[in-house]
Amino acid sequence: MQLLLSLFIVSLSIIGIADSSYISWHEWQNIIPPCGGNFDCGAVLASSWAYIGPLPIAYLGLFYYLTVFILGLLHVVDVDQRIITKKLQRFAVQPIELLWLLTLAGDLFSLYLIWIMAFAIGEWCKYCLVSAAISGSLFILTSLYLKTAQQTPALFIRSLVQKKLGFLYRNLVKPCCFLIDAEKVHTAILGLGEQLGQITIAKGIIKTCFAVNSPKLLTTKASIHFPNRVGLSAGFDYNGQLSNILPAIGFGWHTIGTVTLEPYAGNRKPRLGRFPDSKGLLVNKGLKNHGARAIIAHLGQQQLKIPTGISIASTNKHFDSTRDQILDILQCFWLFEHSGVDHKYYELNISCPNTFEGEPFTTPSRLSLLLTALDQLHLTRPVFIKMPIDQGAQATRELLAVVAKHTVAGVIFGNLTKDKTNPSVTPADRKRWKTMRGNISGKPTWERSNAHIALTKKEFGNRFVIVGTGGIFSPADAAEKIHLGADLVQLITGMVFQGPQLIGEINLDQLRRMEKHT
Ligand SMILES: Cc1cc2nc3c(=O)[nH]c(=O)nc-3n(C[C@H](O)[C@H](O)[C@H](O)COP(=O)(O)O)c2cc1C
Repeated sequence: MQLLLSLFIVSLSIIGIADSSYISWHEWQNIIPPCGGNFDCGAVLASSWAYIGPLPIAYLGLFYYLTVFILGLLHVVDVDQRIITKKLQRFAVQPIELLWLLTLAGDLFSLYLIWIMAFAIGEWCKYCLVSAAISGSLFILTSLYLKTAQQTPALFIRSLVQKKLGFLYRNLVKPCCFLIDAEKVHTAILGLGEQLGQITIAKGIIKTCFAVNSPKLLTTKASIHFPNRVGLSAGFDYNGQLSNILPAIGFGWHTIGTVTLEPYAGNRKPRLGRFPDSKGLLVNKGLKNHGARAIIAHLGQQQLKIPTGISIASTNKHFDSTRDQILDILQCFWLFEHSGVDHKYYELNISCPNTFEGEPFTTPSRLSLLLTALDQLHLTRPVFIKMPIDQGAQATRELLAVVAKHTVAGVIFGNLTKDKTNPSVTPADRKRWKTMRGNISGKPTWERSNAHIALTKKEFGNRFVIVGTGGIFSPADAAEKIHLGADLVQLITGMVFQGPQLIGEINLDQLRRMEKHT
């Protein structure tokens, strides 16, 4: 089908080349081509409307049809499209997309010329009418081609906007941001996001550019209705400043925190760094946050647009006993449970590696103690557990077996990697990491997160809602996690490296995949 459409496109563009060459040759000779019948080509071709500045429109038409011919031919002959696609990728566009845009522009321009002939000149040129008919047909053919490539024009325009935004982000915004201290950028973005979230018109513009909404993306897990599967992972919005802006960016859900009972000013600086070659961030915040009471007061009773969860861990300080530490966590849960905050779920963060006490609840016996105590709270909202990723399959299996015995709805795989031998970190970055405090997010977490997702799905079936987190940098990455068994996905680092349009790109890709299977 695509080959047939390409052949039609090439054939029509050849007729277009012949038509526009004929007029161009006469224009070059300064003569009016024979017209005949009820047409008056001279009135049209010699009018000022037939020029854009000094440039005759006939020449432009010839150039247009030649370009359509070449792009069409690329789809007919067996040229390795990857080479061209790679070149065009710099401009964030594919050959067929370029062709569609070009024929759209050509068609609109032809309609404009028809309007000029009908209302401004009052005469008709038959060569221009032939060209208009060809342009219209070319547009229909390229639209059909897009449809066969699983693209509707609406999805295509959306994806083009996403690609342009991503291109701008990666080539302009990110290089500038990466020159500045990572924590300063993070703080500035939180402030900006909070401000923009208060301005209705700003939210409207952002939503138009970024968000992809469709009832087909709706999914219900743990009795929560998620507008889409893509969430913001814990740690980015640790004080709950972004609730108003994230829906406009296209997120389907959002975790605030990690929040602790008592406030914590953060570990010693520097506590946030970048490993661009390894596609990761170095995190050593140590659960910096304003503390449960301040965050509850800040969130107040406002209705949150997307399902929002509160990630909770023990305060980053020394505890004299495990009992005290568990009580600290329970009190934090209790405060939120009895607050007016409109949250829909909890995350229990047992895997923050940057804290005073390390990861005290990642052994089966201690986790069992904590979860038994948590069960006693009879929370009215589901709990997801944020799991560590550096342990092997057997240790994960044992932890999951404990979790399965308690009122825990889901597991999140997973947190940062603290393994300084992680092969996904480049040797140069590993060397730098040895002298630095902190743990890594992003691509170095990808493999292990995926392995744990697959294990959970295989061995525990549908017992848990599985959330895939770690190293999602593209729509294909999100789809891979979902394919392995994740019901929902979350991200931070991919958004930092690829741009905030990534969320819309993932949702658009999910929509396309659904359409492919219907
Ligand atoms: C700056 C930063 C801060 C984080 N803080 C937390 C946190 O407070 N609690 C938590 O559970 N995870 C935290 N994480 C881990 C993320 O939630 C996520 O699990 C991890 O970064 C892997 O996902 P990613 O590759 O998409 O970033 C943090 C990650 C980053 C990058």
